[in-house]
Amino acid sequence: MTLKLVIIGGGSSYTPEIIEGIIDRHDQFPVTEIALVDIEQGKEKLQIITGLAKRMIHKANKSIVITSTLERRRALSGADFVTSQIRVGGLKAREKDERIPFSYGALGQETNGAGGIFKALRTIPVLLEISKDMQELCPNAWLINFTNPAGMVTEALLKYGEHKRVIGVCNIPFNMRTGVAEILKCNVEDIEIEFLGLNHFVFGRRVLVKGVDCTANVIERLKDPANQYSPANIVSEGWSTTFLSAFKMLPNPYHSYYFKGADMLEKNLEAYWENGTRAEVVQQVEAELFKKYENESLEEKPTELEKRGGAFYSDAACNVMTSIYTNKGDVQTVNVQNNGTISDLPDDVVIETNALMGADGPRPISIGALPLSIRGIIQLMKNVEELVIEAAIKGDRERLYQALLINPLVREEALAKDLMEDLLEAHKEDLPQFYQQA
Ligand code: G6P
Repeated sequence: MTLKLVIIGGGSSYTPEIIEGIIDRHDQFPVTEIALVDIEQGKEKLQIITGLAKRMIHKANKSIVITSTLERRRALSGADFVTSQIRVGGLKAREKDERIPFSYGALGQETNGAGGIFKALRTIPVLLEISKDMQELCPNAWLINFTNPAGMVTEALLKYGEHKRVIGVCNIPFNMRTGVAEILKCNVEDIEIEFLGLNHFVFGRRVLVKGVDCTANVIERLKDPANQYSPANIVSEGWSTTFLSAFKMLPNPYHSYYFKGADMLEKNLEAYWENGTRAEVVQQVEAELFKKYENESLEEKPTELEKRGGAFYSDAACNVMTSIYTNKGDVQTVNVQNNGTISDLPDDVVIETNALMGADGPRPISIGALPLSIRGIIQLMKNVEELVIEAAIKGDRERLYQALLINPLVREEALAKDLMEDLLEAHKEDLPQFYQQA
């Protein structure tokens, strides 16, 4: 029997992590082929990653064939699982998403504010092409998407894509669980967090340790700034006692941009003047990583990969794939279509939530009404996302302007216009939908 996994964006520096994830789970999830796919511009990186992946498989003594190609359609044929980790326009495009808002004194961030909106505009059309190919070439395969902004991309795929077997994943809920396990000094397997909200805007409503509610205890411990669960890309200084006592929920690290906006902006601007954008820092980290990857004696994932904010994303992805393959029916935190899970949001939008994962995919666990404290802000954030998706599909500048205007990290009408014009111009090549002749 064959079990084929296709990794789109296979030349990414993150790929060794997913290879390690597959090796570690091979007894339960016996993948026979991993096809790494990239585009012409990623050719060199793809070659290096392919070499390292082969050495890792050889060292682990697993019978998994590693193939690599620039022809996506050829790879997709016969796939059982497909993961997507692409970056349209590469890190150079991310640099613009970060630098242009900073130049207006606004937050420049990969998945939030104007930068996140433009990343979605570039990415959604490409993912819809992949969806079309999958429906034709591997209609039964599951697409596990962690291409950012993962929530919006997954929603666009489920609303407008031809292929509906799509699940979005992110490392943030995974990091929060492992972070809480460290704080409580217990096994991560014993911890369940009731997540609700949106990608990069998710809250932990309840923490259960072996089924016992420990939420109050965790919230109390989060009052100590030493107890954090932030990824490498976000410098978190913790939360005030007032905030934690009033919300009674676990915030995720991205909430700092919204609830501690002025502080975060000041710190991010300082870091920008000192070291450049995060995209530039990441390019240096990548250059070092690829130097290591090239070394023929390297046979495992180097620890330096943990300097990247997305570290451990592959655990989330590999756990989802394993649960589907083995029909496990365990709880996984994923991005799925709402369909009544949260009664205060439309059915067809994507939320980040807990779901039972089995052979038929995710079955979200009902949440009901949102807590009053966060109902408005979640509806607003979702409203932004819906507008962005429409803008991305139709190349609609009015929708884009509306999205920028109501986004809490932009919010000013003149700023929304300036950011829209500058970013559209800067990303012209990757946004053909906005430049089509009538
Ligand atoms: C976080 C997010 C990821 C994102 C990453 C960026 O962990 O959850 O979605 O990709 O940060 O990290 P980077 O190292 O690229 O700044």
